[in-house]
Amino acid sequence: MQLLDGKVTAQKIREELKNEVDTRKSKNEKTPHLVAVLVGDDGGSLTYVNAKVKACDQIGFDSSLIKYDDSVSEEELLSKVQELNNDDDIDGFIVQLPLPKHINELKVTQAIDPLKDVDGFHPENLGKMVLNLPSFLPATPAGILQLLKRNNIETSGKDCIVIGRSNIVGMPLSIMLARNADPGNCTVTLAHSRTKNLKEKVLNADIIIAAIGRPGFVTADMVKEGAVIVDVGTTRVADASKKNGWALKGDVAFDEVAPKCSYITPVPGGVGPMTIASLMINTLQSMELRGK
Ligand code: GUN
Repeated sequence: MQLLDGKVTAQKIREELKNEVDTRKSKNEKTPHLVAVLVGDDGGSLTYVNAKVKACDQIGFDSSLIKYDDSVSEEELLSKVQELNNDDDIDGFIVQLPLPKHINELKVTQAIDPLKDVDGFHPENLGKMVLNLPSFLPATPAGILQLLKRNNIETSGKDCIVIGRSNIVGMPLSIMLARNADPGNCTVTLAHSRTKNLKEKVLNADIIIAAIGRPGFVTADMVKEGAVIVDVGTTRVADASKKNGWALKGDVAFDEVAPKCSYITPVPGGVGPMTIASLMINTLQSMELRGK
């Protein structure tokens, strides 16, 4: 079994990006500027957004964090989105999800200028992704593809199961893995809560992507010898041995599953750092696309 180390792969990408930014700076060209908008005080979202801002600092991107109380109105948030769309210094921005119930996420996502939508969540970018046209790819699925590619894991012709059909991960990733692209060309099964005979389908897979948010859901009896496993789960589970009282747990029962795999991602340190690296790639691309 080999660990698919997202930290190491993401660090390599960050170094490449830093070199590009340093070269731009030496030529007095624009520095990419990413803005993150955070609504409310959800601990997980705050951690993710802080990690994104920190990554910008390390690479040499400009970054701004805009925080709202969770009582902010939809109107005020939409007005901020328009302001960011029109601000020429800002190359890309994200509105961290989930948003409070009184705000329509789709309305907010659709208000973002597709050319600044570095999350790749706008319907225009998702539609282009389906057609294999150039677009911003959602960061977590794109990070997973980079992780497979940069670790020389063949996807072409493989049977792949994606467990979980979220708009952010499972749905777009299932399409990206099936596209005629590299990585891609998988035969994909997209499994969800209504899937029959799930164990049998997972057992058939060469590549298993677990993205349902249920700690330890994929157990050793569901996994074929030599499978490649990507664990997208990051659930906070109470753990008295940790300083903060919780630990991040993946969707895969790592200790029992790892010995059967050819490759497996750890949690944390697998998909998470790759998601951030992809967002940074998209941000650099957003600046270039706008001709800056
Ligand atoms: N919530 C969980 N993942 C993401 C992400 O990649 N982008 C945004 N905006 N919100 C998220």
